[in-house]
Amino acid sequence: MIDFHLNGRRQRCADVRADESVLELLRTTLGQTGTKEGCASGDCGACTVAIGEPDASGELVYHSANACITPAHQLEGCHLVTVEGLAEGERLHPAQAAMVDCHASQCGFCTPGIVMSLFTLYEQQRRSDEEPPPPLTQERLEAALGGNLCRCTGYRPIRDAALAMGDYPAVDPAWITNAELGHPADGQIATADAGHYVAPRDLAALRALKAERPHARLVAGATDLWLETTQQLKALDELIDVRRVAELNAIEEVEAGWWIGGAMTLARLMPVLAEPYPAFEHLMHRFASSQIRHRATLGGNIANASPIGDTPPVLLALDARLRLDGPRGERELPLAEFFLDYKRTALAEDEFIAAIFLPRPTAGHHLKVWKLSKRREDDISAVLAAFAWRLEEGVMRDVHLAFGGMAAIPCRAPAAEAALEGRAPDAEAFAAARAALAEELTPMTDVRGSAEYRRLAAGNLLERLRLMIEAEGNPTDNNSDNRDSATKVTLDAYAH
Ligand SMILES: Cc1cc2nc3c(=O)[nH]c(=O)nc-3n(C[C@H](O)[C@H](O)[C@H](O)COP(=O)(O)OP(=O)(O)OC[C@H]3O[C@@H](n4cnc5c(N)ncnc54)[C@H](O)[C@@H]3O)c2cc1C
Ligand code: FES
Ligand code: FES
Repeated sequence: MIDFHLNGRRQRCADVRADESVLELLRTTLGQTGTKEGCASGDCGACTVAIGEPDASGELVYHSANACITPAHQLEGCHLVTVEGLAEGERLHPAQAAMVDCHASQCGFCTPGIVMSLFTLYEQQRRSDEEPPPPLTQERLEAALGGNLCRCTGYRPIRDAALAMGDYPAVDPAWITNAELGHPADGQIATADAGHYVAPRDLAALRALKAERPHARLVAGATDLWLETTQQLKALDELIDVRRVAELNAIEEVEAGWWIGGAMTLARLMPVLAEPYPAFEHLMHRFASSQIRHRATLGGNIANASPIGDTPPVLLALDARLRLDGPRGERELPLAEFFLDYKRTALAEDEFIAAIFLPRPTAGHHLKVWKLSKRREDDISAVLAAFAWRLEEGVMRDVHLAFGGMAAIPCRAPAAEAALEGRAPDAEAFAAARAALAEELTPMTDVRGSAEYRRLAAGNLLERLRLMIEAEGNPTDNNSDNRDSATKVTLDAYAH
């Protein structure tokens, strides 16, 4: 049984399969067909809905999500808003009215998803505590719409609509004033009627469930896992959901750094990174889309062990550690010892990632992160480079060069690091590092880039680092160019 609200009305849905998506539930069981299916893989945004989840104080906070890869059981205690729920009687919501007036729809297939992304932006603006609310900048619009594709209208009229929607009179759909909304589910464990889907609320319950069912798959944001059912048509009938485990959502600050709960979403992680590691935070703006960042977790990105996952190389460059937990107790492991081979990790069958330790930067520490991908928004890395170092009396110390897309696992490049360690950051040292790098890493060829391109690009990023240090000396703003220049590097690289 799932107990939630849909457009202001309470819904109790029984007999929901463990691997049923929000999209299936909406279109098949509830007959709400306004939400469309395009790709069924989180890429196109046609299925975008808004999900209001209770925060610590019980107040609903709305974010956009891809209904095609959101497990239906994750709706428990939430408020789901779809395109059917926006208008107040005959009066359109400002996001809808602006789309009509700006001629921002042609075939209309993407339109419900785009309207829902705009609606979420509108709601965030309306509910903002800031006075006056923050302006709708180009950057915020692009972030809100980065996960929505339109194949026929073109984006200019859609952007016009986004900029115009604030000028329309607000509407009051019934759900805005519905007093019953936002009842948090208070049960310890939610269960599925068909198959097995449990959502423990604390660490002790999660450990007990893992002891009982060590084979059960863990699900967090489902932004990787759900593709196994929508793309590979596998049944996922035994699932343990870690997303609501309180301890896995906490951040513990200690003198040496931060223990970040394994189920922390990327959207919630971003403000934590902004001050100590702006380069890491900047990278997060290029991680998938707004829809994905609000569901995907840090633990899921690591456990998924993709060679092209974005956070593992950065965490390797920062010497992150993991706290693994399970019925047999907890243990700590350096992240560098976690990835064993392609998609194979040191996680035992009954274990889970409870927390990730992010060390506090030491004085003079620098971090640079560059993501190369074909598109800026919502694309997977061809190469990701994360470089950390200190400059001490003119020489480089504690050099950590970590890469994604350059081997079967996210990895460091020890020979290239050795070529720079204790050396002045001059052309000779970097030439030696590039030569070592070309020898020690064996990238693959796939749709995102050939092995040759990846090797060349990784070497070029090292050269870029040298030029940057040469231009800036010992840079204090160590990260400001990540977003734009990373894009430029991509375009330059593909132009040759
Ligand atoms: C459209 C799209 C764009 C994407 N873009 C990017 C991108 O730009 N960069 C990138 O790196 N990734 C990207 N991804 C991949 C995905 O979003 C990330 O890997 C995400 O961080 C996975 O987290 P999740 O919480 O959704 O994991 P889930 O899908 O829930 O789980 C992934 C795997 O980790 C396991 N798992 C989850 N939590 C834990 C835990 N606490 N302990 C142990 N095991 C656990 C699950 O059992 C599963 O095997 C994209 C995915 C999509 C669909
Ligand atoms: S259908 Fe394309 S993102 Fe869901
Ligand atoms: S209006 Fe046709 S896909 Fe956007």
